[in-house]
Amino acid sequence: MTKDEILDLLRQVRHPGEGDKNIVELGMVHSVEGTVVTLGFPRKRDPLAEYLIGATRATLIRGGVKGAEVKTVVLDAPAPGKKGMEFDTEGLRNVRHIVGVASGKGGVGKSTVAVNLACALARLGYKVGLADADVYGPSVPLMTGTEGLQPDAEESDGKELIVPLEKYGVKWMSIGYFAERGQALIWRGPMASNALKQMILQVKWGTLDFLLVDMPPGTGDIHISLLQDIPMEGALIVTTPQEVALADVEKGAAMFRNKNINRPIFGLVENMAWFTPEEHPDEKYYIFGKDGGARMAESLGIELLGRIPLVQSIRESGDSGAPVALGTRPDAQAFLDLAGRLAAKLG
Ligand SMILES: Nc1ncnc2c1ncn2[C@@H]1O[C@H](COP(=O)(O)OP(=O)(O)OP(=O)(O)O)[C@@H](O)[C@H]1O
Ligand SMILES: [Mg+2]
Repeated sequence: MTKDEILDLLRQVRHPGEGDKNIVELGMVHSVEGTVVTLGFPRKRDPLAEYLIGATRATLIRGGVKGAEVKTVVLDAPAPGKKGMEFDTEGLRNVRHIVGVASGKGGVGKSTVAVNLACALARLGYKVGLADADVYGPSVPLMTGTEGLQPDAEESDGKELIVPLEKYGVKWMSIGYFAERGQALIWRGPMASNALKQMILQVKWGTLDFLLVDMPPGTGDIHISLLQDIPMEGALIVTTPQEVALADVEKGAAMFRNKNINRPIFGLVENMAWFTPEEHPDEKYYIFGKDGGARMAESLGIELLGRIPLVQSIRESGDSGAPVALGTRPDAQAFLDLAGRLAAKLG
């Protein structure tokens, strides 16, 4: 049995003293190693600790975990005035659609597409937020010209929420706002998962039609953990048209279609679909092959929702912090079309 399957089982163990929340969402599962589950308790012993240990053991055995063992560890009290890590989805209560922007591999233009799509949706009149979930290489601050700004924190109902930055009619949140430029972000696995969940769950998003989540590249543990804890409705997958990219797109699609995740893929976005030179805006050069995106979409049973050209201005605008989707150039239209189709698809 995998760790995730065990965690799924543990979600059945509810804490009667905590509004019936389960021990996973309460952050009480300290570790899962093989079939050994360690529960963390505060120094001031929880009166229901014995009950929870017994219930956890019973649930594991009932769930068929052979040799299941439940241990406990005493956690240090959180610093005064600071609440422990606690995640609920309260901050997302008024968000209608949470859409992941993913890819099988890095560097295909995921962040470029996410940032421009967010701006395009805002131009169409929607309320939009974007969470940069790439905790290792956050690029949203640079791409939106919000580098160096510091989001405020606000207390609400005894909980600290981060206030997203607003620019171009979009609410932006990124771990990049909390790190020095160029500072390497090195996280151990669980820390990375927690940091990025915070970037999404502990944020005062307010009322939004769309919250886009710029996912980190790849399809590893972080992704699975993110998908399990964030009520993401579905995803867009970004790819480049080359034949060799198909395997990566397949991996990305498989992640969402995995039986434990099972979220719809709203569409494929073919980035760098053709090259158009700055001085000849009417010409299209299919340098990575023509219709690669359409073929991939067909073979995976996913709709091709957008085709974005490779143009110098898209790269430049990313570097200068003024997304092309805000402008009047023809490249902006590709993102507006994509935004229109996504909005139509989600109603
Ligand atoms: N359609 C495009 N035309 C021109 N340049 C582009 C286009 N799409 C992306 N780029 C450029 O390619 C580079 C990589 O793009 P981006 O950072 O969006 O990719 P990513 O998939 O988010 O990468 P990572 O996996 O590192 O997060 C950037 O310099 C970006 O400006
Ligand atoms: Mg990126």
